[in-house]
Amino acid sequence: MSSTIDSILVENRVFSPGRSAVAGATVSGMENYKALCEEADQDPEGFWGRHAQEHLRWSKPFTRILDESRAPFYTWFDDGELNVSENCLDVHLENGNGDKNAIIFEADDGQVCTISYRALHARVCRIANGLKSLGYGKGDRAIIYLPMSIEAIAAMQACARLGITHSVVFGGFSAKSLHQRIVDVGARLIITADAQQRGGRAIPLKTAVDEALAEEGGDVVEKVIVYKRAGTDVAWDNARDVWLHELEAGQAETCEPVAVEAEHPLFILYTSGSTGKPKGVQHSSAGYLLWASLTTKWVFDARPNDVFWCTADVGWVTGHTYIAYGILAAGMTQVIFEGIPTYPHAGRFWEMIERHKVSIFYTAPTAIRSLIKASQAAGAAHPRNFDLSSLRLLGSVGEPINPEAWIWYHNNVGAGRCPIVDTWWQTETGGHILAPLPGATPLKPGSCTFPLPGISAGIVDEAGNDIPNGRGGYLVIKRPWPAMIRNVWGDSERFKSSYFPAELKGYYMAGDNAQRDKDGYYWIMGRTDDVLSISGHRLGGTEIESALVAHELVAEAAVVGRPDATTGEAIVAFVILKGQLPEGQKAEALAQVLRDWVANEVGPIAKPRDIRFGNNLPKTRSGKILRRLLRVVAEGQEVTQDVSTLENPDVLKQFTGVY
Ligand code: WT7
Repeated sequence: MSSTIDSILVENRVFSPGRSAVAGATVSGMENYKALCEEADQDPEGFWGRHAQEHLRWSKPFTRILDESRAPFYTWFDDGELNVSENCLDVHLENGNGDKNAIIFEADDGQVCTISYRALHARVCRIANGLKSLGYGKGDRAIIYLPMSIEAIAAMQACARLGITHSVVFGGFSAKSLHQRIVDVGARLIITADAQQRGGRAIPLKTAVDEALAEEGGDVVEKVIVYKRAGTDVAWDNARDVWLHELEAGQAETCEPVAVEAEHPLFILYTSGSTGKPKGVQHSSAGYLLWASLTTKWVFDARPNDVFWCTADVGWVTGHTYIAYGILAAGMTQVIFEGIPTYPHAGRFWEMIERHKVSIFYTAPTAIRSLIKASQAAGAAHPRNFDLSSLRLLGSVGEPINPEAWIWYHNNVGAGRCPIVDTWWQTETGGHILAPLPGATPLKPGSCTFPLPGISAGIVDEAGNDIPNGRGGYLVIKRPWPAMIRNVWGDSERFKSSYFPAELKGYYMAGDNAQRDKDGYYWIMGRTDDVLSISGHRLGGTEIESALVAHELVAEAAVVGRPDATTGEAIVAFVILKGQLPEGQKAEALAQVLRDWVANEVGPIAKPRDIRFGNNLPKTRSGKILRRLLRVVAEGQEVTQDVSTLENPDVLKQFTGVY
């Protein structure tokens, strides 16, 4: 079977950067973007070596850049040494920026607390000294299971300061998921909190740790450090548990950063594939930090007075690269938010942008779509009721952003003047890969535009051959880059087979389908597992979903295939409306309207056979639609798979009617 995908895409709207976005940008104008790409193409090693010298402080300079001798186990700058925390904190103190705010923390209940680079440095050093006093250091691994907080960032930085490899587990994960990760990573230490505060409620964390450690293999952990956040009662094991504030008390406010080899694993972050147990994605220290810092400067065009806000949790890679590391390395001021977007009201995000004068706002399509829905319900009150004039740049990450959601974001949040950087990347890529540069790239709604300088992206067929513009295929990265995944923790075979399949000429395979349009813009068409095959046409679901979302009544849509005797597969669309079904309209009639709409927008081939309405789609805890579960529902089967990674497990029960 062919691996190319048929394109049904039409998008003619183009938004060129305004004068204020171009003036003074880190990369200003397409000529400068192209010059950087050219430089990287001509001499990749020279390009990366230059940036590694300019953007990082080395304790011991490197003399080698890339070692390909054990491909795909590439190494970068491997004889150099540095400390990541020194690069994120100490450099700013020495450059006279110690008093600059590093973090503006807003709690669930609205309380605000700020911390300067100097104070954050002191906090990190105290925690690091505390960890040292317990006997932890380079070569150890720690699990961090904390809510969004200054403490979470400080704990990550303290580990980095000592060369302890951390593995952050999202606070929404259960004791079972936590246990799996503790054992797989071999953690000697856990840093957690009594509870987390979300949506006005205290949700316990330490009980999950206690439960996880009681299971087989849990005894690898010697100490549990507990941040007192909510003041709730917790069970206490005197020999094992230590309060964070007691550990910090009396510790010195300086702590010599430990220089580690460039390839020393800074962190391991688990990503759940659609099958099999979660993969521990292992990242390096130097190569990772270089790209975290460089993409922050390029894609977010970091400027001295910016207030940056990324709404992701530190439990995801976005919260690593664009909260804990890249943003600090670039010396920016950032907002960190403990709570949820809908508490105490659905205008919380806009209210916070106004309160903290946020200039760069980075969020996920799932959040945008739910806020569109909420603003509709509030009679379009949000976000226009708030002063969002501080914004100069918007960002999107995590899923394709449907063009209509892009336009809403652009008009209603960005007042038509803020560029949107739609950033395509993955846990495995360490940082942005395909993304516009706000002072250079003309934007097309729904496209993540072009590869960043130094990234040799391509779209290929199943034999690794390039596919011409206008057809879809596998998205690959042909040459190694410094921030790439180094290994799957404890499973080198899985690393090779998952990301470097033999047929693809040694290219890194992302697992997404994509196409380039006639102008060379990249469009993500969905995961390779989600391709639909209709009467011999292979279609990516994203375009059909975007067509549905473009209808005025539709908030969200997910499209999957179900087996069909004549067409191979039939399209089943799961549709979430912005409000109730309009007065007097039957679901059946609306389904017909939507079918005709899709036929008209993208063509008869894309017309959904079945339409199912519901109030919400099944999503992972990071907000991605879980289409594999919808496939089971589409076939009319009972869902028997493990749904523990679902944010909202009950959601599967509602799609009963088929129209
Ligand atoms: C997958 C990676 C990247 C940090 C958060 C997710 C999808 C991500 C985009 C985008 C279209 C996107 C891809 C990718 N994805 N960003 N801008 N446009 N799709 O990290 O959990 O490792 O997920 O998210 O399918 O492969 P992750």
